[in-house]
Amino acid sequence: MSKLLIEGKKQLYGDVCVQGAKNSALPILASSILCGSESVLHNCPNLSDVDTAIKILRYLGCKAKRQDNVLTVNSDGMSRSDIPVSMMREMRSSIIFLGAILARTKRARLSFPGGCEIGPRPIDLHLKALRQMGAEIEEHHGIIDCTAPFGLNGAKIALSFPSVGATENIIISAATAKGTTTITNAAREPEISDLADYLNSCGAKIYGAGEGTIIIDGTEKLNGCQHFIIPDRIVAATLMSAAAITGSHITLRNIIASHLEAVIPFFEEAGCEISVKGTDLSISSPHRLKAVKMVRTMPYPGFPTDAQAPVMAMTCLANGTSVFVENIFESRYRHVGELARLGANIKVEGKVAVVEGVKALSGAAVEALDLRGAASLLVASLAAEGITELDGVKYLERGYEGFETVLNSIGAAVKKI
Ligand code: UD1
Repeated sequence: MSKLLIEGKKQLYGDVCVQGAKNSALPILASSILCGSESVLHNCPNLSDVDTAIKILRYLGCKAKRQDNVLTVNSDGMSRSDIPVSMMREMRSSIIFLGAILARTKRARLSFPGGCEIGPRPIDLHLKALRQMGAEIEEHHGIIDCTAPFGLNGAKIALSFPSVGATENIIISAATAKGTTTITNAAREPEISDLADYLNSCGAKIYGAGEGTIIIDGTEKLNGCQHFIIPDRIVAATLMSAAAITGSHITLRNIIASHLEAVIPFFEEAGCEISVKGTDLSISSPHRLKAVKMVRTMPYPGFPTDAQAPVMAMTCLANGTSVFVENIFESRYRHVGELARLGANIKVEGKVAVVEGVKALSGAAVEALDLRGAASLLVASLAAEGITELDGVKYLERGYEGFETVLNSIGAAVKKI
């Protein structure tokens, strides 16, 4: 089990290129199953979650080959319709394979993703939508058995919540269904648009991705394509938090500024100067940050729940009181107890966390309990006096590619042991 040793209080400087988005790569890999031919995915991040998706593809009989950040997948030889429980457990979001397997083979057998580190992960919206499209679904002993002997049909689907995963599962299933599917109250995250862009390049007819209503005209056949995965807006927000808490000036390359519109104002409120030139974003942080009044996580284009933990780390050293309201997941404050070990002063009640900024943090042994919590602890440790020993690095590696190397390249002192 690896750990990170972080020597804090180093100023960061220079340029860093932001990796491809994990949350785009995963649904795109699942949807590549529909093509039955080769797709070449550029800017595909090298992460353990992506490795799990590759493992699932190979188990299903598909081919996958990585060269640096180019992943070539070919689903021509797909021969199975099930995912073993062990792989489903490795990555709860593997439920995103459900629609793709069902659409391709007319049946799918997966286990329930169950609860996870950040709270329950129900899939009722995914299953309801697939049923509306004609799937017969049986749920027994934690297994979901789906069949669609005559294929899936287009349907009018109104989501009661703009779930990212459900929207993706519907788009994927509808791409080759008979007829037209309309999704209202669809998730509008940039990763949804990226999935639609990939599928449209493969020959799908998806309109309105990125908006609340998405229309998908089913096409009989898709072919593989070349696709560039969008930059990871959460990794960008994490690097901005790292720069902010260390009083640094850095430039992020390969970003899409519009994807960061909900987070940039909070860095400005904290006293950072942000400038955007094309795909570059520079951030300059003051000597002491100011508190941010109220961060409420919301579906896109609101403030992303995934950025809550790293941005909270930044506010630990700000002058004043910052308030966070977590509206998306139930158990997304698990980093709070560990931030307290570093000297942070945070009180949580239900959905609300109140951060009283302190003057200094000091290194300690801390343990990450989930992916974004790991990022939060790493951000805080960069500004802590002395050495922080961060356990639970496997969580970080699910979403951040070679992050210690990235941080060291801009002046941090992080050692993996
Ligand atoms: C995706 C992202 C995750 C991000 C989240 C919210 C991926 C791989 N993961 O997760 O990083 O934090 O979006 O932006 O892209 N819900 C239901 N029933 C359902 C589906 C969801 O009640 O059938 C609830 C969930 O419990 C949760 C909320 O809806 O409270 C948001 O979930 P959802 O948008 O589906 O997130 P994921 O797709 O799991």
